Amino acid sequence: MILTANGGPENLQMRDIPLPPLGANQLLVRVLATSVNPVDAKLRKTGAFGYGSGSVLGFDVAGKVEKVGVAVTDFHPADDVYYSPAFGLPGSYAEFNIVDAAIVAKKPPELSWIEAAAVPLAAMTAYGALFDRANVRLGQTVLIINSTGGVGSFATQLAHRAGAYVMAVCSGPNMALARSLGADRVIDRQAEDVIAVVKQEHPDGVDVVLDCAGFDWIARCMEVVRPMGQMVTIVNPSGELALGYRKNITLHYSFLSRSRVTLDRLTALINRNLLKPVINKVYRLEEIADAHRCLEQGDGFGKIGVSVGS
Ligand SMILES: NC(=O)c1ccc[n+]([C@@H]2O[C@H](COP(=O)([O-])OP(=O)(O)OC[C@H]3O[C@@H](n4cnc5c(N)ncnc54)[C@H](OP(=O)(O)O)[C@@H]3O)[C@@H](O)[C@H]2O)c1
Repeated sequence: MILTANGGPENLQMRDIPLPPLGANQLLVRVLATSVNPVDAKLRKTGAFGYGSGSVLGFDVAGKVEKVGVAVTDFHPADDVYYSPAFGLPGSYAEFNIVDAAIVAKKPPELSWIEAAAVPLAAMTAYGALFDRANVRLGQTVLIINSTGGVGSFATQLAHRAGAYVMAVCSGPNMALARSLGADRVIDRQAEDVIAVVKQEHPDGVDVVLDCAGFDWIARCMEVVRPMGQMVTIVNPSGELALGYRKNITLHYSFLSRSRVTLDRLTALINRNLLKPVINKVYRLEEIADAHRCLEQGDGFGKIGVSVGS
């Protein structure tokens, strides 16, 4: 499904295009499932990073290795794999994808193709934000904004599994899901004053704030993080951040870092039933425009999967 021009979801159209050549360290993968992420819609609309007419979007793959480059030793044809294709290269809204073997991992055997394709981009982002940036540890209190969305549904589970006390912010219909993912305290962002609740329950502040929503959450949460605490946002903060009298807080803008090591760690958790993707809806690749429309409503939970091929 290529992008014919920047604009609405109707600009995603099916075309036959030639495969790029296979490099020595690359794999040719038959894509069996992908998923949609908010960045897909942003790139489709804005054309950022050179995504314009003729681009193939899509940043999650679960599939089977068809062919390996001459220098690849750790994968073989017919291996089941999953990964997040790199920015700037032809993406996963396609029957085939060519990828550097270094960012590919073996697919968790217990997951369906759709479930596996829901993991790479969102779960690696959650993992990087919580552990590479904020160094979340046993016994800490972690406040997660958008705790049941694509990234948040993984972050809530990962913070819980790390032994943190998880305060999860979401809207009313998603509160039961947040609890089932391991949240210790769930706050309804539409019915409660989130900041007042956190202040009342943690007057000294929480150890870590993870913002998976954007808007003005990072600015609002400044007053509920403890001195020396960590704030991580995965959404580019806009506008000014008034620090006021908050002292020695570290603020990270965390961006997905693709790595087989991280995917292998996630796989190990999945294989032990300690982490699971949450699938909201599934579309076929031919219906990718509808998948984008669904994503852009912005009122769901978990991930939207896309099946590829028969
Ligand atoms: N930096 C990176 O590497 C990276 C990687 C992945 C994603 N992102 C970005 O992170 C953001 C989240 O991605 P995602 O896939 O998790 O998104 P998502 O699943 O599409 O999140 C949608 C959810 O956000 C919640 N929400 C909507 N408006 C909100 C508001 N005003 N305040 C708080 N929550 C609100 C809603 O859940 P409730 O109604 O239950 O609150 C909604 O269902 C996107 O902007 C995405 O582009 C960045």
